[in-house]
Amino acid sequence: MNPESSPFRPGQPAPIEFFVGRHAEIERVRGMVRASTRGRVGIGFVSGERGIGKSSLARFVRHLVEQEDDAVGCHVFLGGVQDLGQMLRRTFERLLNESTDRPWHQKLRDFFGDRVRKVGLFGVTLELDLQGRDLAAIKHGFVSSVRRLLEHLAEHKRSLFLILDDINGLAGSDEFANWLKSTVDEIATSDEETRLCILVVGLEARRQELVKRQPSLARVLDPIDIAPWSDDEVLDFYRGAFGEGNAEISDASLGMLSLYTGGLPVLAHELGDAVWRTARSSKIGPGDVADGIVVAAGVIGSKLLEPGIFRAITSQRYRSICRKMIDDPHQMRFRRAQLRDRLTEQERGVLDNFLRRMKKLGAIETDPEVQGGYRFPNRLYGLYFRMSTVGAKEQ
Ligand SMILES: Nc1ncnc2c1ncn2[C@@H]1O[C@H](COP(=O)(O)OP(=O)(O)OP(=O)(O)O)[C@@H](O)[C@H]1O
Ligand SMILES: [Mg+2]
Repeated sequence: MNPESSPFRPGQPAPIEFFVGRHAEIERVRGMVRASTRGRVGIGFVSGERGIGKSSLARFVRHLVEQEDDAVGCHVFLGGVQDLGQMLRRTFERLLNESTDRPWHQKLRDFFGDRVRKVGLFGVTLELDLQGRDLAAIKHGFVSSVRRLLEHLAEHKRSLFLILDDINGLAGSDEFANWLKSTVDEIATSDEETRLCILVVGLEARRQELVKRQPSLARVLDPIDIAPWSDDEVLDFYRGAFGEGNAEISDASLGMLSLYTGGLPVLAHELGDAVWRTARSSKIGPGDVADGIVVAAGVIGSKLLEPGIFRAITSQRYRSICRKMIDDPHQMRFRRAQLRDRLTEQERGVLDNFLRRMKKLGAIETDPEVQGGYRFPNRLYGLYFRMSTVGAKEQ
């Protein structure tokens, strides 16, 4: 079908109207924002695997609290940022750029005065020219800067909901860990009210890294872990999306799609989109789904797999072993001995090299519960290998 009419949005945070599930997590984060409007500071840490929907959840809650709780949101993407100064500059720049059509924008500009510069093709992007001294002042005076800013916003908004997304690069910074902790302490011990809620977003391993650097953060950070979608949520998502595109999809096809999605939203969009594009008509059957999965596996391999892993499995023999790793699509683990039984003589000859290489690249890890067993540390890898079994020719 026409790709332009596809209701799926691979690679983009979920549009508000397509957002599925996560009720408990939404309520928890929303509760934190509401508490902050009453002056109780909160810092949440949203964790979960890649593509599970962390940024989408943050975006959804932001929308909700802006509409209903009189908060102003600011979603800062910090991919690649490694130091605190850069993080703070990006945060204030984002706040400035996101508010251009809001009534308080001018107040924000006045706040930064002549440090605001217009950049970009039509001068529509605003940049902050914050040099060493300004940055040092903002680092140390962050809480009072936010408080002053909130005074400016006060007639319109009651709290600032700051989303620090993709802090993976910052988790290695002692300065960032200490700053987070002292920000909370300063707000909590101050006589003046600071209506701020911070939501930090990253992988669980990064949360642990931060806590290791600054152990008191364990007490300060409210953990919100995002789990894979349940089967019902996956079905809801597909029903909603195909329905939106006026396509009919049989229950058997939905069941098959759900099996290969494994609860991972990022795959739901890629799979849905590939099925949409390959389907011959708006009546979608299992044959269309099988074709779509083959197409999706190609896209996902090059788009979402770490380049190292993708390169490692370009050889015919390795590729074939990958497909055979998963025998039962319900299982996300395998045993060496059973895998070996499924291989050709030539493949057996390279099996141990293959396993060593995959382990080194982090695509598989030893399963501590099963002797000679392996499992996938990242759901995406297992699901990818599972997907690549569809339509594969036996050798
Ligand atoms: N609740 C949801 N409803 C519908 N689609 C969703 C939902 N959550 C995530 N998605 C979709 O899944 C994909 C991945 O989501 P998102 O970018 O939010 O994940 P992430 O956990 O932030 O990933 P990363 O770790 O790579 O930053 C996007 O295409 C998004 O539209
Ligand atoms: Mg994200």
